[in-house]
Amino acid sequence: MCGIVGYIGHRNAYDIVIKGLKLLEYRGYDSAGITLLDNKTYLYKKKGKVSDLEESIKDLPKGGTLGMGHTRWATHGEPNDTNAHPHQSQNGKFIVVHNGIIENYADLKKTLLEKDYSFKSETDTEVFANLLEYFYLQGNMSAEETVRMALSRVVGAYGLVILCADEQDKIITARKGSPLVIGIGQGEYFVASDATPIVEYTKSVIYLNDDDVAVISRDGLQLKTIKSSQSIQPHIQEVDLNIGELDKGGYDHFMLKEIHEQPRSIADTFRGRILPDCSDISLGGLHEVWPKINNARRIIIVACGTSWHAGLVGEYLFEEYARIPVEVEYGSEFRYRNPIIYPDDVVIAISQSGETADTLAAIRIAKAQGALVLGICNVVGSSIPRETHAGVYTHAGPEIGVASTKAFTAQVTILTMMALKLASNRGTISQDKYRMAIKELTIIPEKIERALGSNEYIQYVSEKLKDSTNSIYLGRGYLYPVALEGALKLKEISYIHAEGYPAAEMKHGPIALIDEQMPVVVVATKDSSYEKIVSNIQEVKARKGIIIAIVTEGDTIIKNMAQYVIEVPETAEFLSPILSVIPLQLLSYYIAVMRGSNVDQPRNLAKSVTVE
Ligand code: F6R
Repeated sequence: MCGIVGYIGHRNAYDIVIKGLKLLEYRGYDSAGITLLDNKTYLYKKKGKVSDLEESIKDLPKGGTLGMGHTRWATHGEPNDTNAHPHQSQNGKFIVVHNGIIENYADLKKTLLEKDYSFKSETDTEVFANLLEYFYLQGNMSAEETVRMALSRVVGAYGLVILCADEQDKIITARKGSPLVIGIGQGEYFVASDATPIVEYTKSVIYLNDDDVAVISRDGLQLKTIKSSQSIQPHIQEVDLNIGELDKGGYDHFMLKEIHEQPRSIADTFRGRILPDCSDISLGGLHEVWPKINNARRIIIVACGTSWHAGLVGEYLFEEYARIPVEVEYGSEFRYRNPIIYPDDVVIAISQSGETADTLAAIRIAKAQGALVLGICNVVGSSIPRETHAGVYTHAGPEIGVASTKAFTAQVTILTMMALKLASNRGTISQDKYRMAIKELTIIPEKIERALGSNEYIQYVSEKLKDSTNSIYLGRGYLYPVALEGALKLKEISYIHAEGYPAAEMKHGPIALIDEQMPVVVVATKDSSYEKIVSNIQEVKARKGIIIAIVTEGDTIIKNMAQYVIEVPETAEFLSPILSVIPLQLLSYYIAVMRGSNVDQPRNLAKSVTVE
């Protein structure tokens, strides 16, 4: 949510910042801005994409070796040039870019208005810039002291990069709740909301912790906290991310690339975690906590959006195989409803970004109440893996498309491995069945490859559906979460209204919507509910709905009932979500492209939601 890039060193700051902002644009893209300090302050901002900003300033001065930029996902104030970051204080002393929300901004603003400060924008960030200036002009403080003092008055979440016009050789950066990474080069430093814009220049990074304040000059970096001026030793890490993973690799969109990457990303997810003879699963991150998981009274899965859908698949997996009751919770609901959590509960947080604010808050509540909290995350070093007791990375590689695809299948792969291993530990699965299940998982990548082969036919179906205004997605059992995920994918990138339902629930209300205009996508591969879902398809057919069915290769029964049939290879029921979601991802992608949507950056969305 919002992308931040800062640079101090010996190269042209503009080039580095603008390039970095383009790489971070998936985090927010309603406006962008940049500040360069080159004896004086240059501040440029523009509504729209980073490329609009670039175009608007192409003939303006862009010198200097210190600068910062921001690409925004609006929280306070509509997207326009004025509300775009960076924000400058009234007398131009401080310039700030900010990711997050300053919750007490209204109180702070009131105080500043009484001190004759005026405001150009509607943002909480401008309030903070003026607060800095107010304190700075009051007393004999350095910029760093001013920042620490002002932050002690701020309530909320932030990743901040701050420049002071009087101290042109410094960048000050601070974190609470919104991630910031500092890249360390030779006589140069980079700051960004994630490591993506940094890895081209250096792999040595410091992930700031909550309450950290870093003061960066060309000669070095000093790490302190908001409360203490005592320097602390930074923890320097090597980041495992390659620049090659950050381009579209010849595809038109990141989303399409990421859909097609799934045979590889799933293999990466289980690589090294399955013994070569398929006799066992080994999840290194859970070694020490298995005894507690094996004896869990209950598993609570917390997540948001697509990750929540993966969590629902997890519920079916854990209950079927490990025979432990599971609850799946939205992070946003869990955190505010005073949930009952027992010390022998195991809470699993699922998140691609590892930064989702609601999921993080849920983790903190569960930890405070004594539960073992595990994370399933994709972004290495992000907040959730750092705050959980233990966990497993999905290793799907960077997901840049805003609509999550390969992260979902990787999350389900991890949940599958966890559920099988837990079942084996608890003796709720026979060893023969355990081995066969593992073997079946290892051949899923080949089957996904085959499912991707329906690409052309899915384009044909998309052409027929692209002008619909509504649609219903149905599934049963393991395929119900897939129906929810298919509907979410369609609505978020094509803006067609889509509802996912358990197929049998349709008759309790949604069936009223079905007429000859209504596309009904039914996920109906051969499994234990097959006959039941065939009956549900009959019910749709009787009301003249347009039936698009995802079926197992060779299915003839549904072929005779549905207008469009998309085949996927046969697999075991517990693996069917990983396979049957593939055509739904492609369907939403092509419909969105045909409708002219910006698939990688759909309206109003951002890749990582670091505000509640
Ligand atoms: C949908 C999508 C979102 C995310 C949700 C949680 O395609 O991407 O629904 O799944 O915002 O994000 P993470 O997984 O990063 O916690």
